[in-house]
Amino acid sequence: MKRMRIGVLTGGGDCAGLNPAIKWVVKSALDERLAGERGIQFEVFGIRDGWSGLIHADPQNPDIKGYVVPLDQDIVRTWDRYGGTMLGTSRTNPYNPKNDQSKLVLENIKRLALDAIIAIGGDDTLSVAQKLSEAGVNIIGIPKTIDKDLPETDYTLGFETALNVIIEEVDRLRTTAGSHKRIFVVETMGREAGWLALEGGEAAGAFIILIPEFDFSIEKVNQLVTEGRRAGNRYDIIIVSEGAKPQGAVEFVKDETMDSFGHKCLGGIGEFVAAEIEHGTGLECRTVVLSHLQRGGAPGAFDRRMGRYFGIAAVDLIVAGQFGRMVCFKHGNITACPLSEIVGKPHLVDVRTDYDADRYNGRRTILGGKLECTEPTLAKSID
Ligand code: F6P
Repeated sequence: MKRMRIGVLTGGGDCAGLNPAIKWVVKSALDERLAGERGIQFEVFGIRDGWSGLIHADPQNPDIKGYVVPLDQDIVRTWDRYGGTMLGTSRTNPYNPKNDQSKLVLENIKRLALDAIIAIGGDDTLSVAQKLSEAGVNIIGIPKTIDKDLPETDYTLGFETALNVIIEEVDRLRTTAGSHKRIFVVETMGREAGWLALEGGEAAGAFIILIPEFDFSIEKVNQLVTEGRRAGNRYDIIIVSEGAKPQGAVEFVKDETMDSFGHKCLGGIGEFVAAEIEHGTGLECRTVVLSHLQRGGAPGAFDRRMGRYFGIAAVDLIVAGQFGRMVCFKHGNITACPLSEIVGKPHLVDVRTDYDADRYNGRRTILGGKLECTEPTLAKSID
C-alpha cells in the first residue's frame, strides 16, 4: 500500500472552527476502512504556529517537538469542542521581502518527508500556500476567517460563531441601552470586507450599519438617528466595521506598525462615530469594541459541521491528487477551486445588492422588489 505523510497547520488570526477542521483531517486520513479503498496509508503531523513552524522544523533541531507533533485519532478526539487552534498560529510570512525564509520552509518540507500540506487560513496564509504550490509543494487550502472575505467560497470557518457573538452582545447591550435611552456604537472586526458588521447587524436588528465598502456621511448618520428618535426610538444600536470610514477619510489605525503581510492594526472608528453623534445630536453615546471576543469561544454547530466537511474534503483532494486547490462551499455544495483564483481578490459586500446605502442598513429587497411571476396560473390570477 502507498504511504503518504500529511502536515497540517493553521495560520493567521485564530477563530472558531479550526480545531474541528484539524480533527477531521486526522480522522479522515487515518480512517482504516478508507485506507483500504484508497490504497493509501496516511500519517498526519501537526505543524505548530503556522508557517513559523515550518521555518523551524528542521529534524536536526533539538526543539523539533515544539514545531511538529504526530497526530492520531485519540489525540484529536475532543478537539472539535474547543475554540482557537490546538496547533497554535502566527502571522509569519516566509516570503516577507525583508526576511525571506521560503528556502528554509521548502528544505524543511523535504527533510520532514511531507508528501502534502493542508494549510488552514485566510488570504495571507493561503497566499503563502499558493507560492509554495508554484514551487512544487503539494498543498491544499481550507478557508477560515471571521471576515468572510475570501472569494470562490460562500463560507469561511469562524464566521458563524463570530456572528453569534455579535448578536449575543448586542442583546445584552439592548437592555442597558434601553434603560438609559442611550446609543451604543458597536465596533466589529472586518478590515476590508463588511460582512461581519452587515450580517451581524442584520441578525441583531441594528438601526445603522457602517461598512468599509461604503464611506458614510456623519451628517447622514446624525440625521437618521434624529429621525429615529422622532419616530419613537428610545435607544439605538449602531454597528460599525473596524475598516469603515467617513467620506474623504482613511481607515482608523490603532497601531502604525505593520505585520509581516503589511497590515496595520485597525481600530478607533467606533469611538469616532460615538463622539460625532454626541456632538451632532446631543444624545448620549457609548462605544463597545467587540474585538477578539468575536474570534474566541467554542465553535457553534455550523462551524463544527463546516470544519468537519472542509477537513474531510481536503483529504479527499489529496487522495485525488488535486493539489494547489482550496476547499470551497459554493451554492450549498463543498467543492474546490485553484489557490491562484483566491489570492489578492477579496470578496467584498456588493453595495448595490447587499446594502441599503440610503438608510445605512441591510438590504431592503431580496428578490428585486418587483412583482414578477413566471408561473402561468398565478400570473393569470394577478391579471
Ligand atoms: O484577519 C481577520 C481579523 O479578524 C481582522 O478583521 C482584524 O483586523 C485582524 O484579524 C486582527 O487580528 P490580530 O489582532 O490577531 O492581529
